[in-house]
Amino acid sequence: MRLLVTGGLGFIGSNFIHVVLRERPGWSVVNLDAMTYAGNPANCADIEADPHYRFVHGDICDAAAVDGALAGGVDAIVNFAAETHVDRSILDPEAFLRTDILGTHVLLEAVRRHRIPRYVQVSTDEVYGDVESGESKEDDALRPRSPYSASKAGGDMQVLAYWNTFRTPVMITRGSNTYGPYQYPEKLIPLFVTNLLDDEQVPVYGDGMQIRDWLHAEDHARGILHVLEHGELGNVYNIGGGNPRTNMEITTTLVESCGRSMDTHVRHVADREGHDRRYAIDCTKARDIGWAPRVDFEQGLRATIDWYRSNEAWWRPLKSGEFLHYYKRQYAHR
Ligand code: DAU
Repeated sequence: MRLLVTGGLGFIGSNFIHVVLRERPGWSVVNLDAMTYAGNPANCADIEADPHYRFVHGDICDAAAVDGALAGGVDAIVNFAAETHVDRSILDPEAFLRTDILGTHVLLEAVRRHRIPRYVQVSTDEVYGDVESGESKEDDALRPRSPYSASKAGGDMQVLAYWNTFRTPVMITRGSNTYGPYQYPEKLIPLFVTNLLDDEQVPVYGDGMQIRDWLHAEDHARGILHVLEHGELGNVYNIGGGNPRTNMEITTTLVESCGRSMDTHVRHVADREGHDRRYAIDCTKARDIGWAPRVDFEQGLRATIDWYRSNEAWWRPLKSGEFLHYYKRQYAHR
């Protein structure tokens, strides 16, 4: 199996490539990545010399770059390339529309042109919107509420429209909140852990009673791989960890694990605009084709905290330059 992975220098993409190279001997991966702020060459530095791995620098919105990456022939495309941070989508929505919708369209056209047998779109549970009660199923209406989730929903709609119209061989995975090593330190867990290690405060939005369902990056990667191998074309699969936690529960664990105190290190700040209170997905469909998460959440979270503690050389350079500019823009007025 020869795969084109897009966005493979990012968090979930790089975890996916590592799982594939480790657990599917003989498979090869071409990684097409635009190297935006979140695409980090360090995430794949250990596999640079692997004969089954090749890196191509390029943007999924650029059809010529996509054609170039496909030149050796591939059996499937897995699209991780996306702008993914909700807060950044509130500050600057345009990049999200470009990569998450237009980029998806460019890839779908490439799938048609090159007659690629399989395409997997990596999406998110955020496309269902705020879920007050119960769990979202794959054919529920999409009610995205942030520029980020609306862009991802736009990508999903394109994918499903290509299946309906052209029978382009597509599938979609919708993952829940993902945690683990190599996550850019703007998201809740890596931001809070690295702040706490630095003896700084953590900014909890609003009352912190929002609920997310946490999924380990390797479980997410194996879920996507499972859908690639066993999913039915034209179908959507929810991939969730089954670990619903309030942000305050997560914060308490992180603060205690880093040896800090809730009184001195937690600051409640102005809420995220349009903040979704709860996500929850029903993953029966993925379980029916044989996937299940393996990582125990408490153990996985502890191991993740330890990873950031032991890999300061990975995250320290990221919390400088552009990040500091973003941090000030996002948090100074809160
Ligand atoms: O649900 C899947 C989605 O999970 C993915 O599609 C997104 O790409 C990913 O960013 C994530 O979205 P969230 O908005 O849920 O993740 P984030 O880590 O930004 O925030 C998690 C929760 O923590 C959310 O309720 C907002 C809150 N939060 C976050 C930050 C960065 C805070 O209270 N303070 C913060 O500084």
